[in-house]
Amino acid sequence: MTTQPSGSTAPPDTRSTPPPVPDLIRAGVVTRFGGPEVLRTVRLPRPVRAPGHALVRVHAASVNQGETKIRRGLVPELGSPPFVLGSDLSGTVVEAEPNGRFRVGDEVYGIHFIGTYAEIVSVPEASLAARPATVDHPTAAALPVAARTALIAVVEYADLRAGQRILIHAAAGGVGHLAVQLARQRGAYVLGTARAAHHRFLRDLGVHEPVDYTRTDFRSVARDVDVVLDLVGGDYGRLSLDALRPDGLLLGAALDPGVTEPEAHRRGRRYRWLGGTRLTAPLDTIRELVDAGQLSVHVERTYPLSELAAAHARADTGRVTGKLVVTIDDVPAAGGAA
Ligand SMILES: NC(=O)c1ccc[n+]([C@@H]2O[C@H](COP(=O)([O-])OP(=O)(O)OC[C@H]3O[C@@H](n4cnc5c(N)ncnc54)[C@H](OP(=O)(O)O)[C@@H]3O)[C@@H](O)[C@H]2O)c1
Repeated sequence: MTTQPSGSTAPPDTRSTPPPVPDLIRAGVVTRFGGPEVLRTVRLPRPVRAPGHALVRVHAASVNQGETKIRRGLVPELGSPPFVLGSDLSGTVVEAEPNGRFRVGDEVYGIHFIGTYAEIVSVPEASLAARPATVDHPTAAALPVAARTALIAVVEYADLRAGQRILIHAAAGGVGHLAVQLARQRGAYVLGTARAAHHRFLRDLGVHEPVDYTRTDFRSVARDVDVVLDLVGGDYGRLSLDALRPDGLLLGAALDPGVTEPEAHRRGRRYRWLGGTRLTAPLDTIRELVDAGQLSVHVERTYPLSELAAAHARADTGRVTGKLVVTIDDVPAAGGAA
């Protein structure tokens, strides 16, 4: 079952009464900064809904590279352990702001930077949107951070046009495989870096030229491209300037982008980092694309919350195809699920 937030042209109200909210909830906690082994599933008092928030029963979350960095202590300004990790969610509203955007029973997805590996979470209404109706909760949970980043890069920052050429590094990963689809929709010519084992996947997504970065210097294949979306960082940032046409645009997403705006400017290229953009406005667009069959997220594997450390260990390999999902409860695919 999927419903729209109140205030929209809603279909008939078929919401069922959600089960009672427990006093103790299960949550995936970072006990200290470190490897996947620092993650523990514990029981915590259920959170109280904050003003302007909706209390959401989380059915599924996903693993983003950002969370592996927070877990390792690379973003210490977000707080000291112990804390609940997790940024994406797909779930059901169990307590709503009076006269707010959502009602109890609404099915939502969204981004809440710390705390979605939990059965219940209090989330600002502005960080939530109605979830796509055509996919199940685990699939919806794989979308928010990765698809938002891909959309902002390809559509908002690059404003990619038909006939332009884009090079996407880590094209088989969470952000990359969604960016490929968005770039193709805009009529661009797409080059993407990945190991040979991923080239079939890339071609199926629509990549015109997969580049095996383990055998080929991508700069020997990608020349005079209009845009590079660098999802690897480090040396790739500086080297990617060589692949751009004069005044071409490099978009960096990694914590260590390996290049600065003045450096790009000196080389006659433009550079932008993808952080700090509007929080959730793209969630409505992403839902529309998914429900129209124009954007599809690939889930490599789904892990139960009790295997959160295994999910993070897999993410740490840097070899994931698409996304990893963590299911928080036993709620199966919702009505209308693909
Ligand atoms: N700033 C933001 O708002 C924001 C938001 C989301 C993500 N990010 C950042 O964007 C980056 C990508 O995130 P993600 O979630 O898409 O990562 P991911 O899913 O973990 O990426 C995995 C992919 O990376 C590929 N890969 C690994 N090393 C590579 C290399 N040297 N060259 C080309 N491909 C390589 C792998 O393909 P092969 O196995 O074929 O090598 C694999 O498919 C991370 O640094 C993340 O922190 C930033």
